[in-house]
Amino acid sequence: MMNDNLSFNPVTITGIGRYIPETVITNEDIAKLVDTNDEWITSRTGIKQRRVVSGNETATSLAYKAALDALAFADVKPEDVDLIIVATSLPDSLYPSTACEVQAEIGAVNAAAFNLVAACTGLVYGLNVARNFIMTGTYKKVLLLGVDVHSRFLDWEDRSTCILFGDGAGALLLEQSADGQNDVLSVDMHANGKKAGELSIPLNGKNCPLVEPNEAKQQYVNMNGKEIYKFAVSVVPKSIKHALSGAGLSTDNIDYLIPHQANMRIVSSIMERLGLSEEQVIANLDKYGNTSTASICVALVEEIMNGKIKQDSIMAMCGFGAGLTWGTAIVRWRALDKRKK
Ligand code: ACO
Repeated sequence: MMNDNLSFNPVTITGIGRYIPETVITNEDIAKLVDTNDEWITSRTGIKQRRVVSGNETATSLAYKAALDALAFADVKPEDVDLIIVATSLPDSLYPSTACEVQAEIGAVNAAAFNLVAACTGLVYGLNVARNFIMTGTYKKVLLLGVDVHSRFLDWEDRSTCILFGDGAGALLLEQSADGQNDVLSVDMHANGKKAGELSIPLNGKNCPLVEPNEAKQQYVNMNGKEIYKFAVSVVPKSIKHALSGAGLSTDNIDYLIPHQANMRIVSSIMERLGLSEEQVIANLDKYGNTSTASICVALVEEIMNGKIKQDSIMAMCGFGAGLTWGTAIVRWRALDKRKK
């Protein structure tokens, strides 16, 4: 874990954005594809519907809209952004990176750009990378995006996975704080590659046909749901406590928990293990399902925009997912929407 007591540039979040595609797929819709029903999905996951891309929508097009939203919120011009990090596990192409494509589309001509892969912990990992670039003085403005388009990588005949995921994008603009107050208080990150096989989307490249004949394989989510469930409920509460301790805080100081929106039963278990109330837990997975790297950010943006998360609220944002990876960021919210000035 990083030493958060050293003297570095203070970091704050000045912009937030999100974009969710318009096409809604309800549990009843999925029941037309596989042997399932609304009651089973709702009781096991809390999910009622999810949004999916259609037509020409891509990970880049979702991220582009979320990015513009965050820049408008902060009243920052694209050309003033120093670095774009796109946390994604499902980019449109292996290369170029989604980050480079977004950089071109928003006109962030002075920004370096790269993708980061930490699955559903991507936003927490990205937050740590972004804040370190600012803390050390390398950059002043970093645009962090989380985007995943799972709907194109699901086996829509596999009822154990196709019910869970939705598509979406979120964006955070991090800047060196103008008033000296640091608002990204602590970040805790972990990985356990020995459990990588529990949740994966293999990339099925083929050997040269002169070496051996090829068989076409499809690329879908493979998941051991029970193991992922057990993993999440055991490691995430410890990570939240670790991150709080890094910030010199305890669970009493959390105004809101914003967990990765994977499954309501996982969220409730984390809430109970930490002794938090339902009012303190932000959950929107009933509307969007598991939007993977985007999920924490989409939930954060919605609750800021509807006024639940207020100035000086302290939030624990925790992620977990493939890798396996997990982590928590402790963040204070202080920015004002510059579009309302
Ligand atoms: N509808 C109806 N029945 C189903 C469905 C479905 N959609 N899916 C599975 N079943 C059946 C199974 O076939 C099984 O039937 P059987 O008893 O006759 O064999 C029965 O329901 C129980 O199946 P389980 O897999 O044991 O169900 P479980 O209670 O474990 O719930 C679930 C499955 C919801 C996937 C759960 O394990 C879970 O949420 N795990 C965590 C998954 C997760 O969060 N993944 C993403 C995290 S990381 C990331 O975001 C990339």
